[in-house]
Amino acid sequence: MTTMSDTTSANGTNPTAKALIERSNRLGADPRNTNYAGGNTSAKGTETDPVTGEDVELLWVKGSGGDLGTLKESGLAVLRLDRMRALVDVYPGVEREDEMVAAFDYCLHGKGGAAPSIDTAMHGLVDAAHVDHLHPDSGIAIATAADGEKLTETIFGDKVVWVPWRRPGFQLGLDIADIKAKNPQAVGCILGGHGITAWGDTSEEAELNSLWIIRTAAAYIEEHSKAEPFGPALDGYAALPEAERRAKAAALAPTIRGIASQDRPMVGHFTDSDVVLDFLAHAEHPRLAELGTSCPDHFLRTKVKPLVLDLPADASVEDSIARLKELAVSYREDYQAYYDRHATADSPAIRGADPLIVLVPGVGMFSFGKDKQTARVAGEFYVNAINVMRGAEGLSTYAPIDESEKFRIEYWALEEAKLQRMPKPKPLATRVALVTGAASGIGKATAQKLAAEGACVVIADLSLEKAQEAAAEIGSTDVAVGVQVDVSSAEAVQAAVDAAVLAFGGVDLVVNNAGLSLSRSLLETTEKDWDLQHDVMAKGSFLVSQATAKVMIEQGMGGDIVYISSKNSIFAGPNNVAYGAAKADQAHQVRLLAAELGEHGIKVNGVNPDGVVQGSGIFASGWGANRAAVYGVEEKDLGKFYAQRTILKREVLPSHIANAVFVLCSDELSHTTGLHIPVDAGVAAAFLR
Ligand SMILES: NC(=O)c1ccc[n+]([C@@H]2O[C@H](COP(=O)([O-])OP(=O)(O)OC[C@H]3O[C@@H](n4cnc5c(N)ncnc54)[C@H](O)[C@@H]3O)[C@@H](O)[C@H]2O)c1
Ligand SMILES: [Zn+2]
Repeated sequence: MTTMSDTTSANGTNPTAKALIERSNRLGADPRNTNYAGGNTSAKGTETDPVTGEDVELLWVKGSGGDLGTLKESGLAVLRLDRMRALVDVYPGVEREDEMVAAFDYCLHGKGGAAPSIDTAMHGLVDAAHVDHLHPDSGIAIATAADGEKLTETIFGDKVVWVPWRRPGFQLGLDIADIKAKNPQAVGCILGGHGITAWGDTSEEAELNSLWIIRTAAAYIEEHSKAEPFGPALDGYAALPEAERRAKAAALAPTIRGIASQDRPMVGHFTDSDVVLDFLAHAEHPRLAELGTSCPDHFLRTKVKPLVLDLPADASVEDSIARLKELAVSYREDYQAYYDRHATADSPAIRGADPLIVLVPGVGMFSFGKDKQTARVAGEFYVNAINVMRGAEGLSTYAPIDESEKFRIEYWALEEAKLQRMPKPKPLATRVALVTGAASGIGKATAQKLAAEGACVVIADLSLEKAQEAAAEIGSTDVAVGVQVDVSSAEAVQAAVDAAVLAFGGVDLVVNNAGLSLSRSLLETTEKDWDLQHDVMAKGSFLVSQATAKVMIEQGMGGDIVYISSKNSIFAGPNNVAYGAAKADQAHQVRLLAAELGEHGIKVNGVNPDGVVQGSGIFASGWGANRAAVYGVEEKDLGKFYAQRTILKREVLPSHIANAVFVLCSDELSHTTGLHIPVDAGVAAAFLR
């Protein structure tokens, strides 16, 4: 008999669900236990049915998507256990097992919480109150070893049972339920080619059993692995020293992003972790990479196999680029052939034949995705795959599932349906923006707007700290990063562009915004004043355009360069010779570069702001006081004063400039280059003609 206090806690979360969430968070926090967003956990318990007032048996199970480490109650699907188990009686057999996923919707309790995942059957059908299904590297190493079944017996005796590979689904749930019933002494199983499942009568017991399987497998590998699972060291393939490999990575990144973006534009992630460099430094890496990954979670994120550059670490950038381009052609042919070998009449269309993982010996790994997080996780999954291969090769030989099974996972109708349900991407999704002077004023507002519209943003400014602060205001490093730059130094600009390229794979939207303003008459303007204005604005934007155009041309994905010029590039007033002349220089760079870069699909446009007082460091640091004095108004009223001078009588804010930058770079203005947009609330003397 269960009392109310057993079934519902004060804050409304059932204590069984609460314990499940805590267990999941603990398990998911350690990457040795499962890959990001991989695996799922469940618990069975009772709650009072609000309809009958009687106890009802429920199954809480991690829903589709989401990560164990950060699982919350909203991530759980809640099903009626009696109805879920009743599905066994209508199950039409393995050929039609996918239909059972839709049937789960008829088993939900109340609103049901998160959408039930494909693994729900395994959790519901296994006769244990608590079940964990995980993808630990150590467990998958056993699961993908050629003699995995024998190893399972050797390592675990009869406490862990081998389950031959089967694609996740209702039948796998039935298989595991049957194994559990026939092996009352077992605490879990190794799922061939895939991962592990463990169970327990209590939440603690399930967790202990999961950890025991994971750690026992890891300890066994540690103790029994051959010394060099990846074979002997390959001459010339050792990691380059850090500075050299970063420089080479930055030099190769634009080519590689272009290769990965032939079917659709991609964001990139780079890692030169020891795991990757060690793999690439040893003799067996080409054979193993060719075998591909195995865990079902991996295929969509990493594709069946990576593209591996087959040149030593010290190959020149030019040779590496030439070879990468050849390999890209054969990679696409291979992938198309793989699709054609396995596609049936009802298979979803090919999703693109570009690699998602590119490995460069001595340098590291580039991974790609529709956004930075997806790209980063793809890289993490390949690191998981390397760990799995090391474990499997250390004990036996790595034997992932058959190619046809990989295809059945990659082009699974259920997976395709999930992709079709994804929300439409934002207008600037996949675009990598570099905004100079973005720690303040107009640049900061622009970086925020571009990020809000889906771009990855690199905030480049004089102070690294301020740049990073501005980036952190936007979000995590998956969305925005800060880098240090003095745009008047070619070397500093190259370093900032390299950092941008390593952060997101490349660059395709550049905003030349860095600037400063000295208001001096001709007679008061020193040579130094003149040089400073021109160095930062005229030369600075030239250097930034040059370094980024090189990246964009190599990527072959088009791009945008936007200059934040000024009303003062057109308008002539007193005390402005150095600033106004530098702005006019920038304005003409727009036209010159629009004419030159058009053949590469790179558009170059400008925005002419005026009177943006709010948030502007330029106005705060003297220019405002000076202008106020020139116009005979109080400094605090300058914004309003400028507004009254305009045709629209409106104050111009940083966000208005940011909006103009966005429009220039969005698809709406895809056929516009060489244009300046005034954002000045209307100043007739600065009309363009
Ligand atoms: N505020 C206006 O009314 C107005 C009008 C027309 C044009 N503009 C132009 O807009 C741009 C931004 O102005 P704002 O008002 O936002 O000024 P701001 O001072 O708020 O921002 C300018 C940023 O540029 C950075 N910067 C300066 N020198 C740099 C260098 N050498 N390398 C890298 N970064 C450097 C500064 O650190 C600062 O963060 C400037 O080019 C300015 O000329 C502004
Ligand atoms: Zn799984």
